[in-house]
Amino acid sequence: MCGIVAYAGDERAAEIIYSGLEKLEYRGYDSAGITTLCDGSFYTVKRSGRVLGLSQYLGNMCGSTGIGHTRWATHGEASDINAHPHCCNRFAVVHNGIIENYSAVKVELVARGHTFLSQTDSEVVAHLLDEYYDGNLIAAVNKTCARLTGCWALAILCKDYEGFVAVRRGSPVIMARGADGYFAASDIPAVAACAEEYCVLEEGDIALISRSECKIFSDGTTSVSRTFVPVEKEQTDGLGEDCPHYMLREIRSNARTIRATCEKFPLAAGGGLYERLRRADKIVLVGCGTAYNAALSAKRLLCGAYDGFVEAVIASEARYNPPAVTKNSVVIAVSQSGETADTVRAAGILKEAGAYLVAVTNTGYSVITRIADKVLPVCAGVEICVAATKSYTGQLACFHLMASLPDYSCRRRELLRVADEVEKLACDELNSLRIAQLCVSSRAVFFIGRGGDADVATEASLKLKEVSYIFSDGYPAGELKHGTLALIDEDVLSVVIICDQSLAEKSKNAVEQILSRRGKVAVVTTLKSVYDELESRVSAAWLLPPVPAHLSHFVSAEALQLVAYRTAVLAGRDPDKPRNLAKSVTVE
Ligand code: M6R
Repeated sequence: MCGIVAYAGDERAAEIIYSGLEKLEYRGYDSAGITTLCDGSFYTVKRSGRVLGLSQYLGNMCGSTGIGHTRWATHGEASDINAHPHCCNRFAVVHNGIIENYSAVKVELVARGHTFLSQTDSEVVAHLLDEYYDGNLIAAVNKTCARLTGCWALAILCKDYEGFVAVRRGSPVIMARGADGYFAASDIPAVAACAEEYCVLEEGDIALISRSECKIFSDGTTSVSRTFVPVEKEQTDGLGEDCPHYMLREIRSNARTIRATCEKFPLAAGGGLYERLRRADKIVLVGCGTAYNAALSAKRLLCGAYDGFVEAVIASEARYNPPAVTKNSVVIAVSQSGETADTVRAAGILKEAGAYLVAVTNTGYSVITRIADKVLPVCAGVEICVAATKSYTGQLACFHLMASLPDYSCRRRELLRVADEVEKLACDELNSLRIAQLCVSSRAVFFIGRGGDADVATEASLKLKEVSYIFSDGYPAGELKHGTLALIDEDVLSVVIICDQSLAEKSKNAVEQILSRRGKVAVVTTLKSVYDELESRVSAAWLLPPVPAHLSHFVSAEALQLVAYRTAVLAGRDPDKPRNLAKSVTVE
């Protein structure tokens, strides 16, 4: 949710910051901007639209110090004027987060003669800095932060200082150094190409960074040192003709993610995790979006494995209405990014109430890992597409292993076999395209299933709607007759997932109910008997590899990820950057 990059070094800042912003675009992509500092003057370009829109202006921006931003709008529409950086006299500022009391501060500053140009909450930061600055930069930053409520990561330029200030309060900031200078950014991909080492700023840290020095103040005044660790240069395949979008590339990494998660699990799962889970009076799973949908599957897996009561709760609800926990409860926060504000907040509240906090996350240096008692890694690698795919698969793998403690060797073997099927399935074009063609010609698409298939239906629906913008809903098949049947007609598609033999007869009833009302049906099944029976009667049927029911979500979810992807492409959408969305939702 907004990405910031700052640089102070020996090279031209504009190009370095631009490259960093390109890597952070998954965090927000409605507008972007860069300010460089050169001989005491600012050079600023900011435009609504994608980062690419800045490229033609870089040549005019001198200076080897600068800050940049890619925006996901909260306050004020996406426009040139609302794009960051925001400037006021000697200051230029980029901001990730929300300044909650901006309105009151703005009124006060206007009364003191300040003129505001944008509708953003962020602009008050530049004006406050200007108001408080008396030659002492860190003092002005401290006073400014003391006036604000909300959350922020800031990068600040001051015309009097050939460097920048980075501030972390509630929103992530990493600092990095390489042969050519220092960087600050919202996430590592922004600096991975140029930096050798990075450290994560702690809550409340203020860093003063120039091409030759980096000072960090933990409470605005106390100088501290933070540990730098090497930047892992992740090998990612580029996009190409056979893989034109990150979404497809990441779906094709599902198998690799299962294998990598199985490999890392033994190292992480020690330290009494099994005993905690076995003795837990309650296991509470919290997450948002796809992570919550993975938690629904986790609930089934963990319920079967442990005696305690298991529930899955949506983090944005749990944050205001937290479930009761004790010191014997285990809370599992599920989050690809580890940054999602609702999840972090809910997990924090439950931990404060005494529960033991486990983070299941794809991002090892994230906020959630810093508050968790134990971290279980999802080894999906960097996920760039806004729609979560391989991270969901990795979360499922992690939960299977958790549910099989203490001796998970048998489940691990099963998972590795499933990974082979998942790998083959990822090459499908024919079946996914057939169902995608039905989706794209439908007014609405319902995904239904029973038992574990219902959880996949919920996730498949989220995937389809977010990348294709087609209305969709997903839920248990038995619920159809309790209301939704009223919506079924020849323009509505129902995708029926049937992967559990014991529930197949009942799911077939739902198919009959839809067909009787002239609704279109696509069946996705691992069961040959179901496929043979329905294939000639429905608009499309896809026979998936015959994996056992408890593992079928790996193949059915992947099949429907492919359907969502192909539907988006047929509909002319950009599946990697759906409108209105961003990858890491760091605001509540
Ligand atoms: O990073 P997180 O897993 O915490 O993100 C949670 C949701 O914002 C995320 O899963 C979102 O729903 C995805 N866009 C779904 O594809």
